Amino acid sequence: MKPKSIYVCQSCGSQSAKWIGRCPACNEWNTYVEEIIHSGKSNKAASHKTTTRPKNLDEIDILQLRRIKSGVDEFDRVTGGGLVTGSMILIGGEPGIGKSTLVLQMSMQLPDIKTLYISGEESLQQLKMRAERIGKGNGQLYFLSETSMESILNHIDNFGPDMVIVDSIQTMTTELAESSAGSVTQIRECTNQLIQFAKTSNCPVLLIGHINKDGNLAGPKVLEHMVDTVLQFEGDQNHLYRIIRVLKNRFGPTDEMGIFEMRTTGLHPVPNPSEFLLADREMSLSGNTVAAVIEGHRPLMLQSQALVSTAAYATPQRSATGFDQRRLAMLLAVLEKRAGFRLAVKDVFLNIVGGLKINDPAADMAIVTAILSSDSNLPVEQNICLAGEVGLSGEFRPVTRIEQRIAESARLGFRQVMIPYGNLKNSDFSRFDIKVEPMKHIGELYKRLF
Ligand code: TYD
Ligand code: MG
Repeated sequence: MKPKSIYVCQSCGSQSAKWIGRCPACNEWNTYVEEIIHSGKSNKAASHKTTTRPKNLDEIDILQLRRIKSGVDEFDRVTGGGLVTGSMILIGGEPGIGKSTLVLQMSMQLPDIKTLYISGEESLQQLKMRAERIGKGNGQLYFLSETSMESILNHIDNFGPDMVIVDSIQTMTTELAESSAGSVTQIRECTNQLIQFAKTSNCPVLLIGHINKDGNLAGPKVLEHMVDTVLQFEGDQNHLYRIIRVLKNRFGPTDEMGIFEMRTTGLHPVPNPSEFLLADREMSLSGNTVAAVIEGHRPLMLQSQALVSTAAYATPQRSATGFDQRRLAMLLAVLEKRAGFRLAVKDVFLNIVGGLKINDPAADMAIVTAILSSDSNLPVEQNICLAGEVGLSGEFRPVTRIEQRIAESARLGFRQVMIPYGNLKNSDFSRFDIKVEPMKHIGELYKRLF
């Protein structure tokens, strides 16, 4: 029988009988790839004989939800208390960011857990070299360099691990799909088999996944739907800091994050990130400001730097590192149209110091201030920090958790914090050892600071 083939979108997993240039489901271009399907085999796998029966609520035992503490505090906090047994955890991140280091370090610190680390990317020698950099651990850690799912499941059966690590899911292949490693069908089939294993054995499975150039998990969104927890590891390879964020968690919070520092001896948690990030700031020059943002549940003081100069070319350049490019464009448009600053003929470069990415809109106020400071070449006083969102009319909009931001600013020795006027409502900030100054509009802030 001629094998049946089908075209699958590598971005979202949609299928089509013929090739299409643009995926109608996710609107990505040129993502359809021909994949051969083996309907016979996968159907047989699906029609397993069942050993389960439907249960009512009283019969379901929640105590089965046991967690394994990973030994890395930041990681445990992010996952909501450790790895849930029988769950699938996906850790995504760009190549070289430190995913393998993180999982290796974690499993090296688990004395009572027999861990099987399956690497499809590196040889056993390479794994050993990495482990030696990290140092001595007391974990029961075993390695396997393998990419065939069938052989891996065999090994798992014989070995009986308490935790399985698969590095990375994109390198694994199964006979159930005939397309090449890393294709949507392969990833889906391999993940499916691992989920089956995790759910029946109650053994947690940690998957490592690559991220493509747009910052999405490479290949399929389907992968994110299948697993219980999705963690994203991010940071700038040229900087020390690495952030781990939760994108999805069936067993815990989804707005947590942890910060690590990548040293020559592996990843080290950073308990007081603001102090680290502000350690060598240069505030006597124009264009530097400090934003009081919240990432996860934690307040963070981040230094933003702007450089505004006369455009070198007809089209002015706008570039942002650690901040959303489109949001920068919006802020510049607001400054131009609502506050009357002539920035359309200027090049604007923006940088968040430390290689972190800001997602909190409360950084807006510090960023427009940095831009205005650089544009007018007037520095902002060293002991002032800012927290506020900028609206399309140039007004400052209230931000969440203002008290936490103010407390962190005071703790780090700032004398004054600028906040949106709207955050004053029903609040008393007199107990903080810092002057809190409300601002309504960009124009008002400019008059006050420069
Ligand atoms: P790695 O964990 O291999 O990244 P990933 O699995 O996400 O591709 O880490 C790669 C980088 O980390 C590499 O450039 C070397 C650096 N590194 C350190 O700086 N210190 C260390 O102790 C280790 C193990 C790696
Ligand atoms: Mg790796």
